[in-house]
Amino acid sequence: MFAKVLGAQIRNEFPIFKNNEKKVNGQILPFVYLDSAVSSQKPTAVIQAMVRHMESDYGSVHRGAYGVSIRSSQQFEETRSIVASFLGSTVRAEQIVFTKSTTESLNILANGIAEVYLDEKSRIVTTAIEHHANLIPWQQAALRKDCELAYISLEGINSEKLKLNLIEAKKLITANTKVVSLAYVGNVLGQINPIEEIIELAKKVGALVVLDCAQSMSTHSEDLFALGADAIVFSPHKIYGPSGIGVLAMSEKLLAELPPLLFGGGMISSVTLEESLWTTGPAKFEAGTPAITEAIGLKSAILWLEECGRKRIQEHAQNLAHQFAEGLQKIPNIEIFSPLTGKETIIPFRHKKVHAHDLATILDYSNVAMRAGHHCAWPLIRSLGVDALVRSSFAVYSDSDDVEIALEAIKNSYK
Ligand SMILES: Cc1ncc(COP(=O)(O)O)c(C=O)c1O
Repeated sequence: MFAKVLGAQIRNEFPIFKNNEKKVNGQILPFVYLDSAVSSQKPTAVIQAMVRHMESDYGSVHRGAYGVSIRSSQQFEETRSIVASFLGSTVRAEQIVFTKSTTESLNILANGIAEVYLDEKSRIVTTAIEHHANLIPWQQAALRKDCELAYISLEGINSEKLKLNLIEAKKLITANTKVVSLAYVGNVLGQINPIEEIIELAKKVGALVVLDCAQSMSTHSEDLFALGADAIVFSPHKIYGPSGIGVLAMSEKLLAELPPLLFGGGMISSVTLEESLWTTGPAKFEAGTPAITEAIGLKSAILWLEECGRKRIQEHAQNLAHQFAEGLQKIPNIEIFSPLTGKETIIPFRHKKVHAHDLATILDYSNVAMRAGHHCAWPLIRSLGVDALVRSSFAVYSDSDDVEIALEAIKNSYK
């Protein structure tokens, strides 16, 4: 049984909501935060774990023979084990690398895979709807290795067809494809990609599979390594944890074979003035002082999230997104860009008479936070024939009052 009631009640655990109520003409406007896809808010459990750590246990990790450093190192390594179990029962703590972000994790992968696996005959396959973080590192890898970078496109750009073209995927994932890298859940359209089918295609030709789980980690709990993934990346700041830390989980083969991206303290086994040798395991990719207190926050975020239940959060957010999309469809001049399968937790849209940036500003007058812009996915936004979209995303603390307040504000934005 799950103790936590999702929606308005759980919001009591998030101080940001109380601290951002607005008083307008004597009326209290609640803080309606519908931008969790960019970064989620933090529960008291996470905030307090980080404060406690800094107040009582803070020391640098793996460098001190004294109490606080030993305690910090133990807690830091404990997080590694917790992240491993969070990713699945087949995952070991030694496979977890702490980075700065999903972006850094993908840069380490693209750089390392290019170095070890790619030559001018190789093909990298990704999709035309990725976040820039899963696009630009591969562009750079293709440039450096003078190899092909191919994109699986959308089946169509009409609402009901916003899904990856699997026939094209079959044509692109062939013998010279060395790596396939894609998002599990799209950050703009919120579509859930058919990763099982893509993994199967990739495995048939021996290609590596990299999954960008930045948008899926708070709601999906399958063991993706067991499904055949070779590397998984995500950002704790999108799962109710802190920013400044990222996760890169790799197969043991990749961990052993990929070269580091950053060089310096903590990642070596020997250094002379002539040459240096790298250590093994995750430390090879963790040069420099890591995000220590953030790792403690990440542990707390995972425990908190698992107490809520990822499947429950997914269903909760899907219901609200569905309710929001239904309401939007009744507002004149609104165009929704979503497959609308009922499974999305993100709804992107535009108002044909009010530019996305203006609409986001107008919504802020009603204390409604939504992101507007290209959402770090320019190629996708261009292919949709627009220059910007407004994106609403639903999370553990969202509720139907949020939906109604946001819909009312959108309705009133143009008269
Ligand atoms: C699908 C996806 N990939 C990558 C990123 C980049 O994450 P970060 O900014 O935490 O590096 C994001 C962030 O929005 C994302 O949604």
